[in-house]
Amino acid sequence: MRIAAAPDSLDLALADAAATEALGARIGAALELGEAVLLFGPLGAGKTTLARGAISAWVGAETEAPSPTYTLVQAYEGPKGGLRHADLYRLASTHEIEEIGLVDALLEEALIVEWPERFAAQAPENRLHVTLSHAGGARRARLEGFGVWRRRLAGGGFDGG
Ligand SMILES: Nc1ncnc2c1ncn2[C@@H]1O[C@H](COP(=O)(O)OP(=O)(O)OP(=O)(O)O)[C@@H](O)[C@H]1O
Ligand SMILES: [Mg+2]
Repeated sequence: MRIAAAPDSLDLALADAAATEALGARIGAALELGEAVLLFGPLGAGKTTLARGAISAWVGAETEAPSPTYTLVQAYEGPKGGLRHADLYRLASTHEIEEIGLVDALLEEALIVEWPERFAAQAPENRLHVTLSHAGGARRARLEGFGVWRRRLAGGGFDGG
């Protein structure tokens, strides 16, 4: 459900985990190679839930999508090409971002990043920021688009309506 709209951001209420996953699916369907989705928000805010929806949409089928909390990154393939899902919570240093190949990956893949604060400086121009927050037992999401994502958000279709 759409609560309020600013020219380049969108605030959404997510009543349950299925709504978070459905938002992820809409994002994953619109995502293209060379672009990144940065998932901000505190522990348990729903970042992995949203990522799973996006991964399923990218792959084109329900798929096992383990949280990359310990592995830092998981790779997927879909009709459009490669998608990497990273969780930088346990990143020891910013050098590790290069070691796990996130910057190189952007040349030919798409990227979804949880705890992206340390990656933000290297993020591509064409990216979507999603900030998830707790709202009682439910969640809220703020979407901000940059580059082509700014136009995509303005074009609609992300509010579930
Ligand atoms: N809109 C929602 N309303 C209620 N619960 C939700 C919602 N979205 C996700 N959840 C639930 O919140 C819990 C935490 O979700 P998730 O693991 O995706 O969070 P996270 O942000 O990835 O956490 P972490 O920071 O530990 O990686 C899960 O049980 C999930 O089902
Ligand atoms: Mg997570």
